[in-house]
Amino acid sequence: MIPRNYREMFDELNRKNEEFEKILARMKGADELSTKDVLSMDDLTPKDIELIFRITLPFKEFLKRPDKKIPLLKGKSTIQFFFETSTRTRVSFELAGKHLGADTINVGKADSSIGEKGETLNDTALTLDAMRADCIILRHSRAGTPQMIAKEIQAPVINGGDGWHEHPTQTLLDLYTIYEKKGRLKGIEAVIVGDILHSRVAGSLMRGLKKMGVRVRVCGPATLMPCGVEKVFGVKVYHNLDEAIQGVDVAYALRIQAERGATGEIPTVREYSKQYVINERRLKLAKPDAIVMHAGPVIREVDITTQVLEGPQSVVQEQVTNGFAVRLALLSLLVMGKPGGDGKQKTLAEVK
Ligand code: CP
Repeated sequence: MIPRNYREMFDELNRKNEEFEKILARMKGADELSTKDVLSMDDLTPKDIELIFRITLPFKEFLKRPDKKIPLLKGKSTIQFFFETSTRTRVSFELAGKHLGADTINVGKADSSIGEKGETLNDTALTLDAMRADCIILRHSRAGTPQMIAKEIQAPVINGGDGWHEHPTQTLLDLYTIYEKKGRLKGIEAVIVGDILHSRVAGSLMRGLKKMGVRVRVCGPATLMPCGVEKVFGVKVYHNLDEAIQGVDVAYALRIQAERGATGEIPTVREYSKQYVINERRLKLAKPDAIVMHAGPVIREVDITTQVLEGPQSVVQEQVTNGFAVRLALLSLLVMGKPGGDGKQKTLAEVK
């Protein structure tokens, strides 16, 4: 007779194989992404976004298991090339790569030949490509750098945030979270609040929400509102949060980007927070089942009050978990591609 602890281990392995097969079957039955790189939300079609969500669903289930290894990317390598600090994006990509069985490496300015030795970013990317890296995730303070290196190299490039421009994987997890909570995206009413001007989160979010049929309002001081945002992104501009939050399904707060000079564009942080913090009184003006979102890191009492952040309508922690699942799905799709098979593609509603 097999001892109990071994039997439990075998059962766990069997269950894991079933989950593994489920993810593979879902990938076989799916189309491939229409893009090699994810540099902007403009690179992804609504069909690509649905495909990423379909693969995210089983990964989210998989993350509940005690053993989270699923070696879809065994023998592959991913490089996190981060020139700005990060907790959520870098750690979740690194952990996702590790859970998928890939070898993951972190490279930054200080510990590469870019710093003191003066190698260019393009030459560094070519060097990593020559080592047959299978995916590069780049975060950089300059807008356009992921696009620049993606043109030069063979490996897929994921934009982990470029300057004030875009942060597409943040938007993918945000869209997934809204879909999970509301059961739809089309027709949802959302308000994005705060430092729209310096926010790459807002840059991708406005593109992604509009692409998926969400009606978007943006609200913040005039000094933190990009010129022409209404026309470029088809959003409605507000400067008064009490008006902007009326009847919305989603209230999305942004952080004041002090490191990009935003505090010089407002009288004081205290004055700003009086006008733009999402607090309980303001949240009551939204729909009763509205959700509160933030990409993090949150500046409590400036972006969102602690009461709201830790309250029942906040989904900020779930955004982090979903970010992990979405990045597992995205890495699998970009690095592994389609593993063969001719299964019929199902709609998102069918696989749920
Ligand atoms: N949301 C986000 O990009 O957070 P990090 O800067 O911690 O990665």
